[in-house]
Amino acid sequence: MDKEVSPASRRIATSDDLEVSTYLEIAKGKKGQQPLPEEAPQAREEAVVIIDFGSQYSHLIARRVRECHVYCEIVPYTASWERVAGMNPKGIIMSGGPASVYEPGAPLAPVWVYQSKLPILGICYGMQVLAHQLGGKVSPSVKREYGHAVLHQNKADAPIFSELPHSLPVWMSHGDQITELPPGFRALAYTESSPIAVMGNGAIVGLQFHPEVAHTPQGMDILRNFLLRVCGLNGSWTPQSFVAQAVQRIREQVGEGRVICALSGGVDSAVAATLVHRAVGEQLTCIFVDNGLMRRDEPHRVAEVFGRNMRLNLLHVNAQERFLGRLRGVTDPEEKRRVIGDEFIRVFEDEAAELGQVDFLAQGTLYPDVIESQTAENSASAKIKTHHNVGGLPAAMHLKLVEPLRYLFKDEVRDAGLALGLPEEMVYRQPFPGPGLAIRILGEVTQEKLETLRACDWIVMDEIKAANLYRELWQSFAVLTDARSVGVMGDYRTYGHVVAVRAVTSQDAMTADWARLPYDVLARISSRIVNEVAQVNRVVYDITSKPPGTIEWE
Ligand code: XMP
Repeated sequence: MDKEVSPASRRIATSDDLEVSTYLEIAKGKKGQQPLPEEAPQAREEAVVIIDFGSQYSHLIARRVRECHVYCEIVPYTASWERVAGMNPKGIIMSGGPASVYEPGAPLAPVWVYQSKLPILGICYGMQVLAHQLGGKVSPSVKREYGHAVLHQNKADAPIFSELPHSLPVWMSHGDQITELPPGFRALAYTESSPIAVMGNGAIVGLQFHPEVAHTPQGMDILRNFLLRVCGLNGSWTPQSFVAQAVQRIREQVGEGRVICALSGGVDSAVAATLVHRAVGEQLTCIFVDNGLMRRDEPHRVAEVFGRNMRLNLLHVNAQERFLGRLRGVTDPEEKRRVIGDEFIRVFEDEAAELGQVDFLAQGTLYPDVIESQTAENSASAKIKTHHNVGGLPAAMHLKLVEPLRYLFKDEVRDAGLALGLPEEMVYRQPFPGPGLAIRILGEVTQEKLETLRACDWIVMDEIKAANLYRELWQSFAVLTDARSVGVMGDYRTYGHVVAVRAVTSQDAMTADWARLPYDVLARISSRIVNEVAQVNRVVYDITSKPPGTIEWE
């Protein structure tokens, strides 16, 4: 069956359903721009919209754009202009995706993309969408192109290739290709299998390859050329400018309202609280719930940094007994998580009730959480663990959310933390799960086991830091297993706990690999734990990646 559709019969699958000719005129700049809805007030100085067509690499595009110091957000291809207008975008990037443009129902760009007259960069499928909607032709390739290819420029004058060599290695991953350029476009580069590997018409550029992946070594230069030379941006989005804008926004959102924030000791809630504090000062009260499941010294440190140094309104709640009481006899991992999450909400509500009228809850939600929950809503993926965080609070307490980190990646949060003057030790802290040490103690959680694990955890941390490995590991910690083993110390038989050491590398915790720790570091950790922690007589190292394992043991 011939899947190709002639340009004349092709209509754009959008609500406005404009004819292709209208797009062509818009693209050529002949047609007067349709009036766009009024912009939302909170415009960014420089921002780019990434239209997501379902590529595996959409997040990577966002990361790379941010690395060029340009703020960007990913929106679904169904997003309305109203959704993005508030950003005051200065350019549009269309991602790759698994579909074929000529198939019925294939996702296409919404009308506003072309009406806005903004510069557009189409990547892979995004380029095919451009070609298809603007009157060119896309067909299945005779030869699919996956992996490395060498790109050759036709004429070295396109701004997208500014200061780049005539030929460069690129990463391809496509089955379809452009066989006819849309009117007004010219082919800017080719590869052995793709005669039209890059096309352009003024500020509209299509790339058949993926500039966002590491396999395209000069991909960042190409993206930077698009942002700075084609869109004319300055690349002025820095941690400092983020902080200034976030503070401004929080002030506008919160007004005279009162805000509470749950501090966990982790970097996300710390940065969120610090931003809100900078914005509205005394209107913020932070609540730190000491659930008795923290690492050694943790509660003290939180009180020190936030209460004493930053002079934040801090309610330090000692709820150790409440949590340990409810955990008594609980051995099932999911039940532990449920009990801890539930008790957290109760304690938090009790404390908040004492404060009287509260209007907002500040949370350290990050961009990956937002993206993940968007994806999770649409997928039927199996639930592996119930993550305990403050997600259950707003519904229970009828509070409006303040989420200043909602569009940041973890490392950007760290940069913002440094810009806010938070101590490096806090900013570069490894993630620590909400249910704390309870999910690193297999079986029932008792005060005694917590003490044992705290001592082991301290040694692991100490040695990892001494070996200068702390920052390159995603997490490193000890797990108190439910197993006991026989040993010999001096002339005596011992029968003690088995402790597992876990150290992983990861980008985002979605996948992880066990860290190849140097043997001498492992040896020191093992010998110190067995010598310094009386209840433990054996140490093992966890060599399971994720998947199939998870990072935490429960
Ligand atoms: P898993 O064990 O699912 O963990 O591979 C992935 C990442 O999430 C952290 N983690 C949690 N964080 N509440 C949190 O805030 C939780 O309930 C929770 N459980 C796991 C874990 O430490 C790792 O970084």
